[in-house]
Amino acid sequence: MRAEDPRPVRLAEYRPSDFLIDAVELDVMLDPTATRVTARLRLRPNPAGRDNAALTLDGDDLNLVSAAIDGDPLRVDDLDVSPSSLTIANPPRRPFELTVTTLVDPSANTKLMGLYRSNGAYCTQCEAEGFRRITYFLDRPDVLAVYTIRIEGSEAENPVLLSNGNLVETGAAGEGRHFAVWHDPHPKPSYLFALVAGDLGVVEDQFVTMGGRKVTLKVFVEHGKEDRAVHAMESIKASMRWDEEAFGREYDLDVFMVVAVSYFNMGAMENKGLNVFNDKYVLASPETATDGDYANIEAIIAHEYFHNWTGNRITCRDWFQLCLKEGLTVFRDQEFTADMRSRPVKRISDVRGLRSVQFAEDAGPLAHPVRPEVYAEINNFYTPTVYEKGAEVIRMLKTWIGGDAFRAGMDLYFDRHDGQACTIEQFIACFAEVSGRDFSQFLRWYSQAGTPEVRIATAYDAEARTFTLDAAQSTPATPGQHTKLPVVIPLALGLVGPDGRDMPLVVGGAPAGPVFALTDETTRIVFENVEQRPAPSLFRNFSAPVKVVSDIADDDLLFLAAHDSDPFNRWQAAQTVALRHLVASVAAVRSGREPADEPRLAEALSRAFDPAESDCAYAAQIAALPSEGDVARELGEDVDPDAIHAARGFLKSAMRRRLGPQLLAAYERLAETGPYSPDAASAGRRALKVAALDLLAAGGERDGIARAHALYSGARNMTDRVMALQVLSLHASPEREDALADFARVYGQDPLLLDKWFVIQASAPLPDTIDRVETLMASPGFDIRNPNRVRSLIGTFGAGNPTQFNRPDGRGYAFVAGVVAELNASNPQVAARLLGAFRTWRSLEPQRRGKAEAALRGLADMPRLSADVADIVRRALA
Ligand code: PHE
Ligand code: ZN
Repeated sequence: MRAEDPRPVRLAEYRPSDFLIDAVELDVMLDPTATRVTARLRLRPNPAGRDNAALTLDGDDLNLVSAAIDGDPLRVDDLDVSPSSLTIANPPRRPFELTVTTLVDPSANTKLMGLYRSNGAYCTQCEAEGFRRITYFLDRPDVLAVYTIRIEGSEAENPVLLSNGNLVETGAAGEGRHFAVWHDPHPKPSYLFALVAGDLGVVEDQFVTMGGRKVTLKVFVEHGKEDRAVHAMESIKASMRWDEEAFGREYDLDVFMVVAVSYFNMGAMENKGLNVFNDKYVLASPETATDGDYANIEAIIAHEYFHNWTGNRITCRDWFQLCLKEGLTVFRDQEFTADMRSRPVKRISDVRGLRSVQFAEDAGPLAHPVRPEVYAEINNFYTPTVYEKGAEVIRMLKTWIGGDAFRAGMDLYFDRHDGQACTIEQFIACFAEVSGRDFSQFLRWYSQAGTPEVRIATAYDAEARTFTLDAAQSTPATPGQHTKLPVVIPLALGLVGPDGRDMPLVVGGAPAGPVFALTDETTRIVFENVEQRPAPSLFRNFSAPVKVVSDIADDDLLFLAAHDSDPFNRWQAAQTVALRHLVASVAAVRSGREPADEPRLAEALSRAFDPAESDCAYAAQIAALPSEGDVARELGEDVDPDAIHAARGFLKSAMRRRLGPQLLAAYERLAETGPYSPDAASAGRRALKVAALDLLAAGGERDGIARAHALYSGARNMTDRVMALQVLSLHASPEREDALADFARVYGQDPLLLDKWFVIQASAPLPDTIDRVETLMASPGFDIRNPNRVRSLIGTFGAGNPTQFNRPDGRGYAFVAGVVAELNASNPQVAARLLGAFRTWRSLEPQRRGKAEAALRGLADMPRLSADVADIVRRALA
């Protein structure tokens, strides 16, 4: 136990701030090691706060230079000051101005929170609690102020000086220095503040909003990378248009800026008018980016832009409400991508992601509600549960009340709460009001952790011509929550007749559905006038984030895989059959038997490679078997990752044997012909091509390996090259080594491409992977201070390599824990994220579980654990 454990923060203990800050003027004198920040804060007592309260401002690692109230300097004994707080016991009980000067050292800031340096530029990251590393402040999201920022710095080193809002003044400041003044008229919480300064290249464009406002768009990148910013720029314009069309939301400043930086803890940040991005999610060119990169950039640009309304104009009252902005904004970016690309493909890949990460989190020791009720370290709650399950909850809400009511509720929310810091209750009240429904039970989605399980039993009565569906829901116990109540589960379904068509749904003599709300522990629905035994298509389009256990036979699922009108469920049906088969195969492998063959699965899969299937991206989803993680989750306990890998490998080889000629034909048919274009249809063709290649190379088949090598060598775009390398990397071969060496030779100097090379090697299911990863960590291209390098190499090894991270000898656990220990002091946020690799450790078979636990206990015993790491280690072990 650490002596200085901070008290956990509890939702139930929320109190309004005793003081408010209406306006902030910051004067920032840039210097690499001693930046001087003078903050003039216009404060007043909060009518909703306590009378005669002391004023305590938050700080983190700050050096106070001076402080004054209304111009009168404060003496040391008027103050109680430390690096982490500044208290004035008896401040004026009327509006007053507090001036505080602090000194910060951006060069020493390795945590990448507050003001820091990235490749010679200055940048800031303030969410969640980084502003307090710049100046003493009421650093909480319910304190909204208007900001005016003056930045001054060396003109040669920082020709570009940026902050939020609109540029109001620039000029010379003498001695080679210059300044810029920015004013943001929209009151905002401190976490949305940003400042960027440096010598950056820029791409400019313009957008005319639906109201006729001309907005200047700028994307800042390192010099020489301007041509890689074009796709990001196009994505900004597409996002702005979409938010107008889909939600009626218009942009509200004269300028919108995106800056790409290479040192960044997360993906990107929605600072008002000045989004700061991890450069990985901005830079793209056909020579350097894959289809996946193009798609990610489009989605993340959209996500951050959409925050302008869901997050910035309406923000969160406190950090427990994080899903108010994140879940909603993820939902919005998912819809954007669905509209820009293929809707079913987007849904399938989101559900794959949700299950592999969020379901895993929900089933392990780090499970928490979409709206947590307590936290020790808020940085650790930027989780798949808050983001992705949070988005599913919004999606269910829409499914439950319908699209029109959903839009009306959103309009009401924007209207009523613009400019406010809100709670989930206020958000939900808008939908209750427009729909007239009672949301009290629905709100349990925000407070109960764990993935609900729905058991479905069905019965057809030919004589009565009824089809009866019995659904039973339950939510497993999770840390701190032992008993659970039923939630509102929207079940979208169809009854598919033998002709492949949906039958009319009649319940109680009247047309019903297609969405049924399961609100009780058990629900029975009796469908009438059912002339023939149907195949039930359940949870169409994944209408609820639940685990479904049904008695539907493989035969019916295979029928649905061919005929269901719902594309999501055609995919799901085949996945379910494959998953059942893999679970049985794992048992066979573990008892030394040969897994059974599954000819009907081959038939289902073969549909993906049929030339008649015109949506290649969709076909590629059909072709992809459940992942090793999917199988592990399905098993739930006593997991042996090697057995899962063997079973899946066996199935892939069986598919190759059965589908060989068809795979080859598809592979050749899909060969690249014209120039590269990252559009969704072309990307889909490449994805399907590599799915065929992956099966052709199953088991290390020579012919498949040779083809992968040929694809690598002849590749005319980065997608083909990287995907070919990925296939090669799965099997030990001379071709593999040749291609890996070639890639390093040609692209090793570009950090983002080096990351791809790291990812491929770190995810290889080969016994020498850990040695390679250790060697790569010591290579010149690796930089432990750069979060992208760390995530690509160590993050991938921990979270993306089930067999090698979970080596039976425990070396994988010890290695990742060692890196966490190394990063604990310099970048606790990144260190804590790496520990996510341990989120399912309790479900492992006993030997591995013991070794994983030992690695975690070793960390727990380390002196001077950061709050971030300590929090995860403790919860993981609790
Ligand atoms: N708010 C960012 C987003 O759009 C994520 C983020 C959180 C970035 C904290 C940096 C720090 O999701
Ligand atoms: Zn976000």
